[in-house]
Amino acid sequence: MNDLLQAYMADVPESRVKDAMLYSLLAGGKRIRPNLLFAAAEGYGLEKAEAEPFACAIEMIHTYSLIHDDLPAMDNDDLRRGRPTCHKQFDEATAILAGDGLLTQAFAAASKSTNADKGECIAVLAEMAGPAGMVLGQCLDMAEETGTTGWEELKTVHKYKTGCLLSAPLMIAALLAGRKEDVQEWHRIGDDIGLAFQIQDDILDQILTPEEFGKSTSDEDNGKVTSISLLGREKAEELMNRLYAESRERIHSFGNFNSAPLLELIDSIQNRRN
Ligand code: IPE
Ligand code: IPE
Ligand code: MG
Ligand code: MG
Ligand code: MG
Repeated sequence: MNDLLQAYMADVPESRVKDAMLYSLLAGGKRIRPNLLFAAAEGYGLEKAEAEPFACAIEMIHTYSLIHDDLPAMDNDDLRRGRPTCHKQFDEATAILAGDGLLTQAFAAASKSTNADKGECIAVLAEMAGPAGMVLGQCLDMAEETGTTGWEELKTVHKYKTGCLLSAPLMIAALLAGRKEDVQEWHRIGDDIGLAFQIQDDILDQILTPEEFGKSTSDEDNGKVTSISLLGREKAEELMNRLYAESRERIHSFGNFNSAPLLELIDSIQNRRN
């Protein structure tokens, strides 16, 4: 994935902001969102190359969201993907610009697609990433308050801040394959996987050390309302497992779709330890 991402960054002139973009982008990470796109594209019988521009675009957008999420004005974290956060390694201004740069470069990458329906794919990407998607979720997340945020409200936060960027690759795979009729179902499946994934993130935030997790475990210090603080560990875990199981069933029941690669990926996500 790093080679591919680097290729989509090759036309960016050398600068401090480019160094910061590459620092965060190439630091690793689980690459779950591009892998969801590759697995769903494979399920539809598409060539991997067809999915590459959007796989890179989604990972760039995700990385920008993490850089900004870690800033002092948001979660104020020091460790990400096993390294100092972007603003710690560089400085705040450069980290803000690296996020801006990755968001913009993502659309440059997406525009390189030669798929007939790339315009619709780009529209979905913008909707899922922007102020009707992940950005809305981050806005709601910042407004959470202990005592006033209940489980229904928190589910909405999770749906937008995490679900939207997990739905996007699945929805885009369907569009690339010319299967518009599948897009809404993928949106729902992505929401459920996103909720399960965020519950899991909340659990891991509580039980792992920063070194094990590769990122700061600051929810408690930041006074965040989480699935654990609202539901308790046991109920949260039960719900997470149920959501993953339901998602698997729904994926399995798609017609004309080879679900094996995606189901395997979801197993590995469910078993993750970071
Ligand atoms: C972290 O996402 C942010 C959440 C939505 C929980 P990932 O856990 O996919 O982060 P990386 O890409 O592996 O660093
Ligand atoms: C952030 O959620 C999700 C996005 C960046 C959109 P968190 O704040 O819980 O993510 P981590 O725990 O810092 O990765
Ligand atoms: Mg956050
Ligand atoms: Mg955070
Ligand atoms: Mg978290």
